[in-house]
Amino acid sequence: MSKTAEMWNEKYKADEYYYGTKPNDFLRLTVQGLKPGARVLSVGEGEGRNAVFLAKQGFKVTAVDASSVGRDKALLLAKSSGVEVDYRVMDLNDGFESLGGDWDAIVSIWCHLPLTLRQEFYKWTPGALRAGGVFIFEGYTPKQLEFGTGGPKDVALLCEPQDVRRELLAGQTAVEFEVLQATEREVQEGTGHSGPSATLQILMRRLAR
Ligand SMILES: C[S@@+](CC[C@H](N)C(=O)[O-])C[C@H]1O[C@@H](n2cnc3c(N)ncnc32)[C@H](O)[C@@H]1O
Repeated sequence: MSKTAEMWNEKYKADEYYYGTKPNDFLRLTVQGLKPGARVLSVGEGEGRNAVFLAKQGFKVTAVDASSVGRDKALLLAKSSGVEVDYRVMDLNDGFESLGGDWDAIVSIWCHLPLTLRQEFYKWTPGALRAGGVFIFEGYTPKQLEFGTGGPKDVALLCEPQDVRRELLAGQTAVEFEVLQATEREVQEGTGHSGPSATLQILMRRLAR
């Protein structure tokens, strides 16, 4: 088992949902343009709150995470919500190309990756969207270390808008950024994230080929 899986299995082992069961605010606002039946990939899905919300909107959701404990809790949440999620336990370090392409949306909420993996994953992301598909991202910026209300303590896992923008453009797929901003906002998500926070939000659309 990878160190990532071990760490997150430990964090998720209580019955309580560490980030709660309600979806992330930025995700809730940005998926509104997607049509029912849209194919959505959520990476670093964790305990399933975002995947279940997406499935409830009528989307076909594939979730990926290294944590099998996260998967088990996500599937319980899906069952009690009357929806289905295709949840795959995998570490992105072991390769992500097998996730395929033509996604209507790829979602990354608080999935903080180390630099090399981050560069590889975001270079791949635009080409894995169908034309018109969107990438929805929220993560913490280095300023979050001053707030201390959640997120990684290692500054190397935090990023600024221009970093992720550069990494997304590296694949040379035509995209436009509808939102690309560092912001400060109140985040209330279970016991894991609680209080004023410094975040980075991205809504990026793949343009027609
Ligand atoms: C802060 S949690 C966020 C969970 C979820 N997105 C949410 O907002 O509730 C980060 C998640 O990313 C997952 N993760 C981190 N690195 C990963 C990797 N290399 N491969 C797969 N999952 C990873 C962790 O297992 C964890 O569940």
